[in-house]
This record gives sequence, structure tokens and C-alpha cells, in this order.
Amino acid sequence: MQYELIKLKTIKTPDLGSLSFFEGMVDIPFEMKRIYYIHHVPENGERGGHAHRTMKQLLFCPYGKIMLKLHDGRRQQNLLLDDASKGILLMPGLWRDMVWLMADSVLCVATDQYYDKEDYIRDFNEFLNFVEGGEEGR
Ligand code: TYD
Repeated sequence: MQYELIKLKTIKTPDLGSLSFFEGMVDIPFEMKRIYYIHHVPENGERGGHAHRTMKQLLFCPYGKIMLKLHDGRRQQNLLLDDASKGILLMPGLWRDMVWLMADSVLCVATDQYYDKEDYIRDFNEFLNFVEGGEEGR
């Protein structure tokens, strides 16, 4: 499955928390074009339900607890985002659903491309066709 867990560099200050960071082409294999974040989701809220044709993303959760459910067309895998220093690099061609296990958890996403609705696959059967090579990436 085309994902990678990335332990984000973290500087701890005694009794005053931590600072985590990542840099394009240093800690992740792309230059960032966009950062978006999803917030104010209630407990058990579920989002996602799509894959990307070409976009790479780094997902991280600076606050809260979110279950990331991935599917590569053959198998399914759940990854827990429960630590602000945890990053998950998603390569294209992965179906994702996210479940908010804690209200108001924040999901941040850094991407290698600007928003393009044509990059989304929102139909699971179309996704299966895409990963089986039945549909070319753009
Ligand atoms: P979507 O990516 O489907 O979010 P999620 O996977 O969390 O459900 O995006 C939700 C809506 O926001 C959808 O209508 C597309 C729009 N959108 C933008 O306009 N710009 C963006 O950068 C993103 C990520 C989404």
C-alpha cells in the first residue's frame, strides 16, 4: 500500500510542550503548494470517501484523534492519527475515509498540487477501475 508513516521532527521544551515541523523535499518528497485543514467535526463524523489520481499529501492531526481508513483496491488498512508528531504520507491512488473519534480534532493536509476537482475519484467502482489500470491518470 502506497503510504508511509513519517515521524515529524519535534523539539521538546521542558514543561512547555513541543514544536513539530516538516519541510518540503527534506522531510516529505514534494514541495508544498497548499495546506488545508478540517475542523469543527463532531464525534463520529465521517469524511473523505474519495481518492486522488495524481496528488500526494501529508496528513497530520495537530489536535485530537482521527481514524484514517485506507484502501488500495485490494486491501483495507486503518491508521490512527492520535499524536501531533505523526504524519502519514499518502501517494496517489488510495481511497480514504476519516472518522473523527474525538470531537473538534483537526486534520491538516499538505499537498503537492493546487485544488483541482478533476483530480478526485469519488465513486468506489471507478476507483477500483483506476487502480486496476482501466483508467489512465491525467
Ligand atoms: P473534500 O476534499 O471532499 O473533503 P473531505 O474529504 O474531508 O470530505 O472537500 C470538501 C469540499 O471542499 C468539496 O466540495 C471540495 C471543496 N474543496 C475546495 O474547494 N478546496 C480545497 O482545497 C479542498 C481540499 C476542498
